[in-house]
Amino acid sequence: MGFYVPAELHCGYKNIEKKRHFQQIDLDLPAPLPTHLPLKPLKTLAFPHELTSLSDTLKREGKSLGFVPTMGALHEGHLSLVREAKSKNDVVVASIFVNPTQFNDPKDFERYPRVVEEDQRMLESAGCDVLFLPSVKDMYPDDASQQAVSFGFLETVLEGAHRPGHFSGVGMVVKRLFEIVKPSTAYFGSKDYQQVMVIRSLVEQFSIPVEIIAMPTIRESDGLAMSSRNRLLSAEERTIALALSKALFTAKENYPSQSIPELLQHAIATLSRPDIRLEYFVICDGDTLREITDKSQTKNPVALVAAHVGKVRLIDNLGLGRAVNSEQ
Ligand code: PAJ
Repeated sequence: MGFYVPAELHCGYKNIEKKRHFQQIDLDLPAPLPTHLPLKPLKTLAFPHELTSLSDTLKREGKSLGFVPTMGALHEGHLSLVREAKSKNDVVVASIFVNPTQFNDPKDFERYPRVVEEDQRMLESAGCDVLFLPSVKDMYPDDASQQAVSFGFLETVLEGAHRPGHFSGVGMVVKRLFEIVKPSTAYFGSKDYQQVMVIRSLVEQFSIPVEIIAMPTIRESDGLAMSSRNRLLSAEERTIALALSKALFTAKENYPSQSIPELLQHAIATLSRPDIRLEYFVICDGDTLREITDKSQTKNPVALVAAHVGKVRLIDNLGLGRAVNSEQ
């Protein structure tokens, strides 16, 4: 079990980088990195008490800790959160834990991609300092850690309605992660729009002293929202999946000229095809997640979609109120 000394690690690594930079400019010679100093700044820790002790040390030193919880199979969406955390905090911790309590479909849990070594390389390249890689036993050691968390109305609509128990599982695991990591700020993606609302509610319900930052959805160049589950799509299914983001962007483009029922009718018609099993396409007040029937009902309209393409369930959303290319 390694002991982590953030100040030293940082200091050592930064000095190496500075030196290399200087030599490359001055002499035009690639300088080999000294082998006696840490070449890999990413530290992987498995035990909760290691993270808590790191966090306590940082707090004593007056340093900030940015936290990015994930389930792995990382992509640029996750890395955008890590980079933002890195730019705003002294130390960045990411976690990878495929959380069994949030999967309402056991097959989905089994199928979920697990590529930890690749993830470690990506985290390292994004500047992450520490990866927390806990076991199920350490995350859920007793009954208290598995107590259901409730989110009222949020659990009854959209993802809450279609994935019973999902948000309770998310609440359970994020609460436990926050208790272990004790971050000053935690970063989440708006790709999971409802999840961000659930996390804000969690923090409020349990008075957890952490700032929650929501970051924009990162997309592939053709508009498909990045997702760990995209790896499970065949080439043909990936092309089919593009219909989801297309329907969202079309709704955004037509928002100024069409009524809510017209926008919905068009989107639902384009997504009603044999190779897509549509669960919902709705337009909501982005502050409450209540569906709207008229534009006057909100200043923050958001379209949200969920559908199965083959065996893969995908979700996406887009704010409709601003310029066509901008995310909410
Ligand atoms: P996961 O799906 O791995 O996502 C981790 C974080 O990355 C979430 O905050 C998610 O919203 C964000 N993210 C995913 N795709 C993104 C994209 N294309 N652009 C920007 N951000 C994106 O969400 C979870 O894990 C879990 O529910 C978790 C919160 C870790 C609890 O188990």
